Amino acid sequence: MEFQDVVRQRYAAKKFDGKSIPQEKMDELIELIRLTPSGLNLQPWKIKIVTDQKTKDELFPVTGEQPSVTSCSHLLVLCANTDFDDLVAKADKSMRDGGVPDEIRRHVIELASAHKEKSLEARLAYARNQVFISLGNALNGAKALGLDACPMTNFQPQEYSRILNIPAHIVPTVLVAVGYAADKPMPKRRLANEDIVF
Ligand SMILES: Cc1cc2nc3c(=O)[nH]c(=O)nc-3n(C[C@H](O)[C@H](O)[C@H](O)COP(=O)(O)O)c2cc1C
Repeated sequence: MEFQDVVRQRYAAKKFDGKSIPQEKMDELIELIRLTPSGLNLQPWKIKIVTDQKTKDELFPVTGEQPSVTSCSHLLVLCANTDFDDLVAKADKSMRDGGVPDEIRRHVIELASAHKEKSLEARLAYARNQVFISLGNALNGAKALGLDACPMTNFQPQEYSRILNIPAHIVPTVLVAVGYAADKPMPKRRLANEDIVF
């Protein structure tokens, strides 16, 4: 499928048919998300995958009772990772292992380390921005793989952390319900070119 068609045809599915996505397909989707670019390549995200129906049912009331949560095959909880000590250490190792020249590596680590000194609020804001880039890969990636998806921010992050037992430094940011749609797309409604390009 051409990328242009993926972008034109994907839509926020509100209901899924309950069919399970094969594991290999999900592995491919996670791989597309994993390849998302991020500032300084820090990749400050974590993904919790919910497939268990009982857990999805428990999440339903804290997700605005949206049927996509209970009817999807896989619910991806894209989270912001605020543990920059670990992220910077991993970036350093990855650059060493990848043979990145020392001068460049040191410069990147200097820039990245600045995040470690920042407030939790600032680290969270930075990480969340990167998570939303991965959302793009998740949504278009799902369509490219023949799947449907619905992004959701209408949910209660704290309740998600409690129900899914997510540690405090990992913050649920946006959900992606993935599966096979049981609804049809509406015509695309978007602002005109002249409304967005100035
Ligand atoms: C960050 C984000 C959060 C969204 N949250 C929700 C949501 O909680 N529930 C929902 O049904 N749709 C949600 N949507 C879907 C949007 O309403 C939808 O993408 C938009 O209306 C455009 O329609 P389309 O995606 O079908 O082209 C969200 C979309 C984005 C990008």
